[in-house]
Amino acid sequence: MCGIVGYNGNEKAVDILLDGLSRLEYRGYDSAGIAIEKNKKIEVIKAKGKLLNLKDKLNKKNLDGTCGIGHTRWATHGEPNEINAHPHVSNDGTVTLVHNGIIENYQELIQKLEKHNYVFYSQTDTEVLANLIDYYYKKYKMGPIDAINRTMVRIRGSYAIAVMFKDYQDEIWVARKDSPMIIGKDKNGTYLASDVPAILKYTKNVYYIDNLECACLKKDDVTFYDLNGDKIEKELNEIKWDVSSAEKEGYEHFMIKEINEQPDVIKKTINSLIFDNKIKLENANLNEEDLKSFDNLYIVACGSAYHVGICAQYIFEDLARIPTRVEIASEFRYRKPILNKNTLVIIISQSGETADSLAALREAKNKGVKTLAIVNVVGSSIAREADYVLYTLAGPEIAVATTKAFSTQLIAIYVLATELAKINKKINNEYYNELINEIKNIPEKIQIILNTLTEKIQKFSSKFSNIHDAFYIGRGLDYAISLEGSLKLKEISYIHSEAYASGELKHGTISLIEDNTLVIGIATQEEIYEKTISNLVEVKSRGAYVIVITTEDKDVSKVANDTIIIPKTNKYFSPSLSVIPLQLIGYYITVSKGLDVDKPRNLAKSVTVE
Ligand code: AGP
Repeated sequence: MCGIVGYNGNEKAVDILLDGLSRLEYRGYDSAGIAIEKNKKIEVIKAKGKLLNLKDKLNKKNLDGTCGIGHTRWATHGEPNEINAHPHVSNDGTVTLVHNGIIENYQELIQKLEKHNYVFYSQTDTEVLANLIDYYYKKYKMGPIDAINRTMVRIRGSYAIAVMFKDYQDEIWVARKDSPMIIGKDKNGTYLASDVPAILKYTKNVYYIDNLECACLKKDDVTFYDLNGDKIEKELNEIKWDVSSAEKEGYEHFMIKEINEQPDVIKKTINSLIFDNKIKLENANLNEEDLKSFDNLYIVACGSAYHVGICAQYIFEDLARIPTRVEIASEFRYRKPILNKNTLVIIISQSGETADSLAALREAKNKGVKTLAIVNVVGSSIAREADYVLYTLAGPEIAVATTKAFSTQLIAIYVLATELAKINKKINNEYYNELINEIKNIPEKIQIILNTLTEKIQKFSSKFSNIHDAFYIGRGLDYAISLEGSLKLKEISYIHSEAYASGELKHGTISLIEDNTLVIGIATQEEIYEKTISNLVEVKSRGAYVIVITTEDKDVSKVANDTIIIPKTNKYFSPSLSVIPLQLIGYYITVSKGLDVDKPRNLAKSVTVE
C-alpha cells in the first residue's frame, strides 16, 4: 500500500529517491519523506500530501549524500500528516527506517518498549519498529543483522523495511515478510524499491529477497542473510521490461497509455502460450498429465482479477465442462472451502502481492491442493509460492485502474480453458483450431475498437460527468464484464455504479431507475441477446438513458440512446472486446470531471494489507 525506495552508490541519492518515489506514487500518496546519510549524520525530510510538497522542501536544502531511503505513504495507522510520514527514527536517532506493511502486534510492543523508557511521537506502527530494532541493537550489541533478525522473530504482520544505522556509514539494511521488495544493482550502486518501475530506469539486474531474510546494501554489493544470521548466496536476475514501459510516452495518463497498449501486450501473452497454432503450457510447468488430474477448479482473486474469475467460471464450465467456483479471496480464506486432491486453485493477480490472494494461495497449499498463479509481476510472492505460474506479459501497469493486465489475464483463461476442453475431449480438433485462430485475432479486433470508438466515446462521455449513478447490465459473460465496467467507472470517477445480471433487475433494483438514469447494457451473447434487449426496454420505458454495447450484426436503435458497435468474435472471447469501450467510458468520464485518473483517492495499486 505504501512505496519504499533506497539507493547507495556514487550518485546524489536525493534525485534517485525522488524519481523512484514518483514512480511509486500509485501505491500511496498522502505523505512522503526521505532520509539521507552522510558522514554518519542522517537527515530526515518529510511532507504531507503529494510528492510535490516534499520536492519543494528538498529544493531548499542541499542534501548531497549518496546513501538514502525514501517512502510514499498510504496511511494505515495514524492520519496522513507530516508527523506520521516516514521515515521514522528511534528515540536517540540510532535507527532510521521506512516501512511498507502492517505490524499487527504493535500495541503490545509499545507497552514493552515504554517499560524500557521509549517514548513515541507518532501514531504509527512503523515508529514502533524503529524503536524495537534499536532496543535489540542496544541490548545485545551484536550489530544490525542480529537486531533485525530478533525484531523479525518478535513482530507479527507484513513488512518490507529499509533501515539505516547511525553507526554504520554507507549501509542500508533491508528485510521483508509478505510485503514486496525488489533489490537492484548496477555500476553506480545498489537500489531497493517496493516495485520494479522505481528502479527500472537505473538497472534491470535485480535480486529477489525472500520472506524473513535480511540484506545489507553497500555501494557496490548486496549481502543476504537468513534468520540465523548466516550468509545466503543469491542469483542476479534480469528484468525483461523496458524502461519506456514505465513512462507515459506522450499520453496524458498512464491509464490511456495502458488501454492503448492492450493489442501489443495481448499479442505478447498469446505468443508466450501458443506456438505454431498449438497451446504450450510448459512455461507454466503445466503438462497434460497434471491438467487431466484436475476435475474441479476454484478461482480466487480480488477486484478486477475477480471479474476475470467470473468470466472464467462461465468459460471453463461451458467450454471445458469442468465444475468451477469463483471466490473473492478475502472470503475464500475464511470460508473453510471444500477442496479435494483433484481441485486446482487458480489465483489471479496482477501484482502477485495482494495480501488476501496470497493468503488464499497459502490456505489452498496448506490443504494440500495444487495452485496455479496467473500473475503479471515476475518474482512476486504469489508467483514464487504457487505450484504452477502462468505469467501475463502486460509489462508494468502503473495506473491504479487495471486495463492491460486484466485483458492479458483473460487471454490466459481462454488458453487454459481451450486446452482443458481439448484434453477432456469436450471439443474436436477442428473447433480447437478455430478457437486458437480466434484468440489470435483478438489483438487486431481490439485495435479496430480503439481506432474507431475512442473519439466517439470521448465526445459523449462529457455528457455524464455530473451523474450520480450508473448501472451496467448483461447476461452470462456480458454480466461478468459489466462488473468490470462498473468498477472501472466508480473507482476513478467516484460515480456510484452497480453491475447487475439484467434478469435480476426486476427483483428490486429496477425501482432505482428514474428519468435519465444511465444504464449501459452489454449484449454480445447470441443465445440470450433478446432477453437482454427486453430488460433494456424495461429500463428505457422507465426513463433510463440507455447505451448498448453490441456487435456489428445487431440493430438496437429502437432501445438505445447511444450504440457502441464492436466486432464479432467467438462468444467465449467477447469480454476482451466489450471491456474496451467500458474502459474508455470510465476513463473519459473521469477526465471530463478533471480528476486524477492514475491515482484515484483512497486506492493503491496493490493491496498488500488485509
Ligand atoms: C482494478 O482496477 C483495481 N485496481 C483492483 O480491483 C485490483 O484489480 C485488485 O486490487 C487486485 O489486484 P491484483 O490483481 O494485483 O491482485
